[in-house]
Amino acid sequence: MSTMTSAKRNPLADIDWAYLEFFVGNAKQAAHYYCSAFGFEQMAYAGPETGVRDRASYVLEQNKLRFVLTSSLLPDDDISAHVRLHGDGIKDIAILVEDARAAHAAAVAADAKSLLAPMELRDNAGHIIKATVATYGDTVHSFIELRDYRGAFLPGFVEARKRVSSARHPNLCHVDHCVGNVGWGEMDSWGDFYARVFGFSQLVSFDDKDISTEYTALKSKVMTDERHRVKFPVNEPAVGKKKSQIEEYLDFNGGPGVQHVAIATENIVETIDALKANGVEFMDTPDAYYDDLEARVGKIDEAVAVLRDRRILVDRDDLGYMLQIFTKPLQDRPTLFFEIIQRKGSLSFGKGNFKALFVSIEREQEKRGTL
Ligand code: FE2
Repeated sequence: MSTMTSAKRNPLADIDWAYLEFFVGNAKQAAHYYCSAFGFEQMAYAGPETGVRDRASYVLEQNKLRFVLTSSLLPDDDISAHVRLHGDGIKDIAILVEDARAAHAAAVAADAKSLLAPMELRDNAGHIIKATVATYGDTVHSFIELRDYRGAFLPGFVEARKRVSSARHPNLCHVDHCVGNVGWGEMDSWGDFYARVFGFSQLVSFDDKDISTEYTALKSKVMTDERHRVKFPVNEPAVGKKKSQIEEYLDFNGGPGVQHVAIATENIVETIDALKANGVEFMDTPDAYYDDLEARVGKIDEAVAVLRDRRILVDRDDLGYMLQIFTKPLQDRPTLFFEIIQRKGSLSFGKGNFKALFVSIEREQEKRGTL
């Protein structure tokens, strides 16, 4: 590479999460669910009352998290078609950039499909630049350049503050990673997409040998920016004795899409206690998982009994350890779910938990005499 090209900064080098936009069947009710169960506060709104004719959007915030819940008011536009095909789920993983025009130009030059050319959006609180490119399935990435904007959220939204006073506050902090499920044999090409279009590099990968069980087989590759702030794991199904959980997702989602969003907390035990009190349901972990936990992951600050009680998982790499737990699907289709994660130095994605979890499941089966 010549010094001239290497001196040219990647416009996607210095990025952060902007917001996640969900397309849902009933945004008003979904907003209430995310506020009452996950402790979000509604901050802004756009809809017929604010001059938007075709949709209603509710913006929810919690620390650095921003969710936008959008429903169509029409029978046959893109939003309705998205919900009909995929059910409720994430449409836009929007990214904060310094220069949306440069980010869009670089992405398109690297073969990303443009869905919205850079566009200035303005109201009396200032202006922003937005551009959008396609990623896996019908999922998109908007590039958001905030410029001088001082309004509640983005131009077109009005401040509309509302919280559910009975909800316990789980103190969810920010998005840690956002995982895409793609089709058979498509993981490498989507990994290449994030390398080419975003300039990301591969953090880790694991394959069916790491996740070698009869229950579920998958391959995964984690793409990340330089500062490990924005991380996009990409999963594809692999052949196992039973149907891969990724294949099941693809069936119910009508193709590729966002499988889970990992949300970081600084105190997972308090977070999980608040979420459970709010009625959030989590995946269970077999009791046997905890029997030799410290033998597997070494010494940890938390009491094993406290983790066992809440079914929190632990994984370690050479940088430290992390604690994680997964919710049940957030809608009737077994598609999107959340992961709650607390990192204590570790950059792990829970690889160690696949095997430990499945081994402990097998141990339970042995106890029941079914293996
Ligand atoms: Fe994850």
